[in-house]
Amino acid sequence: MQKFLIEGGKKLYGEIDVQGAKNSSLPILAGALLCDGTTTLLNCPKLSDVYASCRILNNVGLTCNFIDNNVLTISNSVNNPNCIVPNDLMREMRSSILYMGALLGKYGKCTISLPGGCQLGSRPIDIHLYGLKKLGADIKEEYGTIYCNAKDGLKGTKITLPFASVGATENLILASVLAKGETLIKNSAREPEICDLCNYLRKCGAVIQGDGESDIYIKGVKKLYGCEHSIIPDRVVAVTYMCCVAMTGGELVLNNVCTNHMDIVLNMFEELGCDLYTYEDRIYICSKGRVHSLKNVKTMPYPAFPTDMQSPLMAVMTIGDKTSTFEETIFDNRYRHADELIRMGADIEVMGRIAIVRGVSKLYGTSVSATDLRGGASLIVAGLKADGLTEISNIHYIDRGYQEVEKVLTSVGAYIKRV
Ligand code: EPU
Repeated sequence: MQKFLIEGGKKLYGEIDVQGAKNSSLPILAGALLCDGTTTLLNCPKLSDVYASCRILNNVGLTCNFIDNNVLTISNSVNNPNCIVPNDLMREMRSSILYMGALLGKYGKCTISLPGGCQLGSRPIDIHLYGLKKLGADIKEEYGTIYCNAKDGLKGTKITLPFASVGATENLILASVLAKGETLIKNSAREPEICDLCNYLRKCGAVIQGDGESDIYIKGVKKLYGCEHSIIPDRVVAVTYMCCVAMTGGELVLNNVCTNHMDIVLNMFEELGCDLYTYEDRIYICSKGRVHSLKNVKTMPYPAFPTDMQSPLMAVMTIGDKTSTFEETIFDNRYRHADELIRMGADIEVMGRIAIVRGVSKLYGTSVSATDLRGGASLIVAGLKADGLTEISNIHYIDRGYQEVEKVLTSVGAYIKRV
């Protein structure tokens, strides 16, 4: 089993090219299934979740190839699609659920099971099922297998989501673009990754309006054709690297970012005491001394503070000059990294969805274990500052979302090795 070894205390200096967004790539890969011909994705990160998506597409009958470093082609010339996604592929990640909408939309049927993914509390799929049923899918569950059928194709309708779920919004977009008639998705999620999916689908021929707002309107078309599309920069990865330098001190330039997607978080780094110069696609960040504690950090759907950035930021707050309070409103169990940070000397008290982080003057390197993707990233952030050696196990979680994180951090002066 691979581990990361980190020797803390090195300041970070240099430039980082931020990778493409995982949470855009995964729905767009499911979108490629809807298209005839070839999709070429530029800036597509090489991540275990992207490879898992390719395995699902291969299983249906499509061909996926990384033809260049971050250039992925997906070709669909399938005559006899296999619409059964095996349990082992479904379990690899949460996004496998998006193949329910995509397969139903394209081929009118699929057999799947419940998706896997990071354990962040209960992650039901009721909103996905509710929306797909409203589009006319007949869905039956037997012993964990979900049988979905839409013999005469899906039919556009009005769907009001009870919660602005990112995955359910994406699933319903995927299902609706080839459906007959018009679909209105009310109370949609507004994340930039949803706009990226819609931008891709529009280039393929889809008719979609309103993405980025609460009401998304879709007019079904008969066919979609593959296109070339560049994945947006990963805002969570960018913020993770900003947390690293806020923690260690030093100066970083982040290239290939979209600062428009990061407004709220950029303000927070100024409150931490970092110097920031931001351009449309570049951030300069300099951190000199001990960071200021942020009083209240509350995770909410976009455009508010994202749940995915909670754990890296919590790592920074462990050495803040005062006390910070976190409130996690999206997932019911997303503080599992707190126990690992406590092993490193952090002072954190978790009470349900609230976490109180009292800043300490030092963290200490020890053996810790990644509990999920972003929780794992928080241990890297902490390890870069901690005295001595930090050993992080279960790093397969981190590989789901960070492309070659150890190479990126080594290139700016960190000591981090994969062993
Ligand atoms: N929810 C339901 N029923 C549903 C769907 C969601 O109750 O049918 C609940 C979930 O249990 C959760 C909340 O709604 O409590 C939010 O879930 P959402 O569907 O919005 O999230 P997701 O689609 O499962 C995506 C990202 C997550 C990110 C969340 C929130 C991808 C692949 N995943 O998950 O990213 O945290 O949106 O922004 O896009 C990560 O990258 O580490 C990650 C977990």
